[in-house]
Amino acid sequence: MDWQYNEFQQTGKDYASQEEVDIYDPSHDDFRNIQQEITEAENWILPTQQSRILDIGCGTGNFSIHFSERCERLYALDISTPMLALTRKKAAEKNRDNISCINAGYLTFDFPACSIHGLISSLSLHHLPDFWKSVALKRMFTVLAPGGRLYLHDVVIPDTESEQAIQEFIDLQGERGGDFLREDTQIHFKEEYSTFDWIMQNLLQNAGFLVRNKSCRDKVLATYFCEKPV
Ligand SMILES: C[S@@+](CC[C@H](N)C(=O)[O-])C[C@H]1O[C@@H](n2cnc3c(N)ncnc32)[C@H](O)[C@@H]1O
Repeated sequence: MDWQYNEFQQTGKDYASQEEVDIYDPSHDDFRNIQQEITEAENWILPTQQSRILDIGCGTGNFSIHFSERCERLYALDISTPMLALTRKKAAEKNRDNISCINAGYLTFDFPACSIHGLISSLSLHHLPDFWKSVALKRMFTVLAPGGRLYLHDVVIPDTESEQAIQEFIDLQGERGGDFLREDTQIHFKEEYSTFDWIMQNLLQNAGFLVRNKSCRDKVLATYFCEKPV
């Protein structure tokens, strides 16, 4: 398709830069409780030793490393080769040989239909514009087995008092992580593609997902607990 979006072109933060990869985990510790997020994802996806799990936009691999201990095969996907290199290094340190690190993204992964039991998408779908989010979600729905579950966590804009919520979040990030996190968050809204909650819910439903639950913190950090009907 000669009009396919080039998802390998980084938008906003350049996660293909080694410098960004090196500071990623410490800077995110300033505003996230990643262990809590991972537990939430695990409690939703409920992996078993027979599960194949896909982590799209795996970044530094924190979800992938955790889930690999609880499933048969973990596919860690990212468009950034330095991010994948760090995930590989963490996997080697923990002797995990059931992680496949793949340089691909939402629009380019290639798995058989219904072959995946759980999908993790954390803080990465917003790198695609809305039309391409919809293409991505339909592809995700296709590879997921019936009854399979999606944990989708991302920066999503509330439907009301949106500008106020964004400004409050930028200020909060500044208090938590100083100028670095403030600018990081400004770049997010200026150059990346976070969308409205009502659009995200519609995109998920149009792709076929059942949105079973939703939670939100700091007004913009939303999690959608989704399922493919049996
Ligand atoms: C903010 S990080 C999130 C990393 C990790 N999932 C987390 O929760 O900490 C975003 C990651 O998404 C990756 N990314 C950007 N566009 C992507 C795409 N189209 N497909 C897959 N990954 C993508 C970036 O390279 C980066 O590693």
